[in-house]
Amino acid sequence: MHKLYIGMVGLPARGKTTVAAKILDGLSKEGIRTQIFNNGDLRREILGAKSSEPQFYSPTNQTGKAAREEIAVLNMNRATEFLQGDGNVAILDATNVSRHRRLTIERMAVYPILWIECINNDEELVEASILRKTKLPEFSKLTEEEACMSFKERIQYYEHIYSPLVDEKMWVAIDSLHNRILNENVPSGVPFYPNIRDILVSDWVRNLYLARHGQTEYNVMDRIGGDSSLTELGHKQAKALGEYFKGQEINYVFTSMKRRSRQTAQYVVDNMPNCTVIPLLEFDEIDAGVCENLRYAEIKEQYPDIALERSEDKYGYVYPKGEGYITLKERVDRGLKKALFLSGNAERVLIVGHQAINRMILSHFLFRRQEDVPYILVPQNSLFHIISTQQKKLFELVKFMDVDLSN
Ligand code: F6P
Repeated sequence: MHKLYIGMVGLPARGKTTVAAKILDGLSKEGIRTQIFNNGDLRREILGAKSSEPQFYSPTNQTGKAAREEIAVLNMNRATEFLQGDGNVAILDATNVSRHRRLTIERMAVYPILWIECINNDEELVEASILRKTKLPEFSKLTEEEACMSFKERIQYYEHIYSPLVDEKMWVAIDSLHNRILNENVPSGVPFYPNIRDILVSDWVRNLYLARHGQTEYNVMDRIGGDSSLTELGHKQAKALGEYFKGQEINYVFTSMKRRSRQTAQYVVDNMPNCTVIPLLEFDEIDAGVCENLRYAEIKEQYPDIALERSEDKYGYVYPKGEGYITLKERVDRGLKKALFLSGNAERVLIVGHQAINRMILSHFLFRRQEDVPYILVPQNSLFHIISTQQKKLFELVKFMDVDLSN
């Protein structure tokens, strides 16, 4: 029977745990017995709060160093025990950033070990990821600012000892934001590697719900853009959306910065104390430039050329001083990657977006010719439920309320 250790490598907040969970999910569904051995969990279990302080991670702190070493060895022993039993793949989920640490683990290994380095140097995302980490119970006694500082200090200590994968026997470096292989050095015949490689480059969306905000004052007037609030019907739709999710905990809700999106999301999160809400600028509705706040009829009257040119190539048309679907793509893709990265291995994620934004998100999962994308129907009384993992693809439109007067 084949056996393999996988050693995660990377600075904190680079998506290692998400990648580990994704591999666990993917391999387990293939019947490959896989288990994660997380050093952080073990550290919290054994050492508790005192191991959260940044000083614990200082390379000059001999006690901290020895304690972390001990935890790594303990987890390695547990991983070996698992593999010597009926396990196939043991994932060592830890930073493992120093060559010294990796050598220690390699010396203890009784089966081949594949290192997977997670790289993500997008500062904004790392920042957002750190913010998410500050919600962990180990930082509960600190303010958000203090927790951020503490975590950043911890990262700096790891940076001092970071040595990228080069000399190891088998390794792959990935861009953990875009699910891309950056570099690899894996000889043929490594057990399960074709499956693992496939998992690494696939999207991993367990349950993504995509809703549009409820009806707004602007929708009623047929005006575009702006930042108007929900109408009475809009509130009812948002409430119905909230009711739809009763009993199913949503872990993360992403909104745009606009009022209508946040107001709608509020109904969902009201009864979900553990849900994290993250507004993203990337999910703001298409910027109609000189046409912002106008009615479609007014655009026809005041800017007949714009109306005509747009109707001839809606996807490729870019509003003067604004955006077009074609230019929106990069921003929305970035927002989606960001949302999926930040929500990690969450079971359920909701995005409350806008008409054009949701069309772009949908086109990521559902193949549509470009010219058809700006016409995808995005109702305000229904949501899209998307699952996209290696083993399962699901795409369904679910109605949560009867009335739909969207425009
Ligand atoms: O009408 C609502 C709205 O969200 C506007 O703010 C936006 O400009 C428009 O939809 C996008 O849809 P379309 O590309 O069909 O004009």
